[in-house]
Amino acid sequence: MPRQDTLFERFLSPFFRTFLIDEPALQQLKAEIDWPQATQRFQRSDLTYPDYYRTAPFHGIAAGYLTPDAAVTYDPITHYVLPPGEAIVRQALIDAIRVQSPQRILDLGCGTGSMTLRLKQTFPQADVIGLDLSPHMLVMADRKAQAANQSITWLHADAAQTGLADHSFDLVTAALLFHETPPTVTQAILREGYRLLKTGGEFLILDGNQQTLRFTPWLMDIFEEPYIHAYAEGSLDADLGRAGFGAVQTTPFWGIHQVTRGGKPIAQATATPCPPEAANDRKLEREPATGDWVPMPG
Ligand SMILES: C[S@@+](CC[C@H](N)C(=O)[O-])C[C@H]1O[C@@H](n2cnc3c(N)ncnc32)[C@H](O)[C@@H]1O
Repeated sequence: MPRQDTLFERFLSPFFRTFLIDEPALQQLKAEIDWPQATQRFQRSDLTYPDYYRTAPFHGIAAGYLTPDAAVTYDPITHYVLPPGEAIVRQALIDAIRVQSPQRILDLGCGTGSMTLRLKQTFPQADVIGLDLSPHMLVMADRKAQAANQSITWLHADAAQTGLADHSFDLVTAALLFHETPPTVTQAILREGYRLLKTGGEFLILDGNQQTLRFTPWLMDIFEEPYIHAYAEGSLDADLGRAGFGAVQTTPFWGIHQVTRGGKPIAQATATPCPPEAANDRKLEREPATGDWVPMPG
């Protein structure tokens, strides 16, 4: 059961409710969607939810992301929790893209599609897929894409086992995903991203700044994130290196965010990423290879 006395419940939630969130409008939005029918459009019956996903009360909501409540409240809250502003923070990922004119883009853990839409708007010629485990989040993502008149494919799948073809993407992204995944799952998703990328392609990650989070436990406690402490203790640079990526680099953004990049090296196109058992060893600090990755030509 989620705790009811978290900092979020005691301080932020009443503040949000009173001053920032139009609760009646959200209730109306929730009521106007036929959820069983809307989720049915995305729901894959052969998908098994990983244990961590079914049982973890992300943000204190008992069923995590598998509810209409989680889906309708996500955007209004996220809008206020990414200082200095959601648009600026999301643009940091876009600005970090080096791969030229990507033709196929995959956004892992796309949620309500805010980053996916931005990717499509930046690269209108590209086929863009947003992938998420929550059909409820995908319902909201699809509504936003339709409102923006953008053609995006939404896929109900596990980012660690997408079922998509090897070497089929120029760019794979994950925004605000890895602070919510246990370390072994993070490593599995990075390995999957490596498999999916063409040589010369890149994996870009936007998330909380691991170094800053380590020294601000109160910040981690506010948002009821079950795996954020493990995320803060880890190193996405090392994780990417273990998954086989080269030219790995993390750039802090506004102190509390970071953008992390890994390239699929041309010179090591046939390199085998570390075996799964090594993924559990968060202390393994294999130095990622540098200088062996060049962005895909346009
Ligand atoms: C904090 S939200 C981020 C959403 C979006 N990327 C954004 O930038 O706003 C995390 C999302 O990751 C999804 N997620 C978590 N684990 C996943 C997995 N293994 N495969 C696919 N999606 C996952 C959740 O359902 C949720 O929608």
